[in-house]
Amino acid sequence: MASLGRPLRFTRRMRCYIFGFCINVFLVCNILVHQTWTKWNSALVEKPDSWSRTAGKGSAQKTQGDNEYRVLVSRFRKLMENAVESSNFSSSENDESLELISNAENGTLRFKNRSSEQLFNCQDIENITDKHYIGSGWTKAVYSGVISSKKVAMKTVDIGGQDVTNCVKWGQTLAECYYRAAQKIVKEIVLLQELEHQNLVKVLGYCIPEEQYNGDDVTLVSLITELGDTIDLIKLLPMSWEERLRISYDLTSLIHFFAHSPHGPVVMNDFRHQQFVLVNGMLKLTDVDDTGIGDPHCSTQADCNLHFSPSEFHAKIPCQNGHCVGLNEKKNIFNAGRHFIIFRLPYGAPPSLHPILYDVVSGFTNLTMNADRLLEQMQKAVHLYKTGHYLNRTEPVKTEYKEYLESDLPGKYDYRCRASISGTSCTFTVFDQKEAEDICERDPECFGFVMTQETTWTGRKIVHLKNNMSIPVRNAGTNLYMRPS
Ligand SMILES: Nc1ncnc2c1ncn2[C@@H]1O[C@H](COP(=O)(O)OP(=O)(O)OP(=O)(O)O)[C@@H](O)[C@H]1O
Ligand SMILES: [Mg+2]
Repeated sequence: MASLGRPLRFTRRMRCYIFGFCINVFLVCNILVHQTWTKWNSALVEKPDSWSRTAGKGSAQKTQGDNEYRVLVSRFRKLMENAVESSNFSSSENDESLELISNAENGTLRFKNRSSEQLFNCQDIENITDKHYIGSGWTKAVYSGVISSKKVAMKTVDIGGQDVTNCVKWGQTLAECYYRAAQKIVKEIVLLQELEHQNLVKVLGYCIPEEQYNGDDVTLVSLITELGDTIDLIKLLPMSWEERLRISYDLTSLIHFFAHSPHGPVVMNDFRHQQFVLVNGMLKLTDVDDTGIGDPHCSTQADCNLHFSPSEFHAKIPCQNGHCVGLNEKKNIFNAGRHFIIFRLPYGAPPSLHPILYDVVSGFTNLTMNADRLLEQMQKAVHLYKTGHYLNRTEPVKTEYKEYLESDLPGKYDYRCRASISGTSCTFTVFDQKEAEDICERDPECFGFVMTQETTWTGRKIVHLKNNMSIPVRNAGTNLYMRPS
């Protein structure tokens, strides 16, 4: 009985386990809190109000696109009004996306279908085959599918998503909640076509049906775009430096384009990896439902003080002619820096490029460069890499490697090595044969390499190092090089 009253004693090992467990719980909680906070912060605090700012400013120039857009919008409006009428909920005049639509009707957003291709319409979309769910966010569900033998992405409202679920919980009808969410898709249809750029997903078609939403596929509001690969940290981490350079370059190009948009500076209010996809390795923004156009209004300088938490970074933006001039550009730069560039650009880069890359990183981190300067620096880094200037060669190139033209060792003597771009072989990209030789020289296991005609986005060739040699096989597309013994 005495032992019952004895205080519990922990061995040193048990104390270590408990301590380790507590630390883990603490870290997991922190990550969850951070993720939730970031989501709410971007979704609620930074909601764009800039559509209202464009009201009445643009020209009412009529184009065929204008008319097309009016038809689309009025059809959508009618569907929405019907949904609202059939419930006792009154339509909110202040709804941001409704403002977008009414502003666009005033001619402020001139919708031009610049694409020469015919867009897929409701009928085409009905015939999409091989539909597979890809992913969803708060509002939309995205599917891959095939239409006219082309692989595409189809965005629709996610009926089970947070947006619709919360709306229904607040007492509105499903049809009404559907159109509230669908407004975001309409905004994307308009914006993605208006702000055409190689780093924005391309619109291939859309459907605003005549019939009101009733759960059937034919009543879905949908947007068809080019199909990409989703991005997450697990995909980003093992990427080669060259792939990360491309992502940084693409993002800088997009930020530059947004800073100079003809409608005013565009801001990405919700800046996360999930808003982007990779299309053949090229970074493209797919989610534009939280973007805003035009720098915010201000009446005093204090209205333009930019504050980024949790990093506690502050910047003072000038309030000129009633606008915080450059605020949207700076917001994009800072967010791009912390989400993509800072941790991904310098790591694994050729040492001779470090000065320029750290300069770029500082530009993103401390907002010391504008979008023009950042793009200039990124272009310079890409140029140095593409042209082989980063190798800083001073002497003429000589080789002692034995060359076997049109030869290969398929499936033979592949081995795994550090910094390889493949998990199963020792594979690199090189500017030329000499760079491949230098890599081989540094690796005691390397006996030679196979140089292919395959190139990356910078035009560099792909080489496979081999850890032994034997009689080669003829292959028109590759050359084999043997290291001198
Ligand atoms: N063109 C595409 N190709 C492949 N996947 C895509 C495409 N567009 C979107 N996705 C995937 O679908 C997901 C949801 O799309 P989207 O971001 O447009 O929805 P959302 O409801 O606005 O999301 P959020 O609430 O995060 O803003 C994206 O995170 C992305 O992974
Ligand atoms: Mg979104």
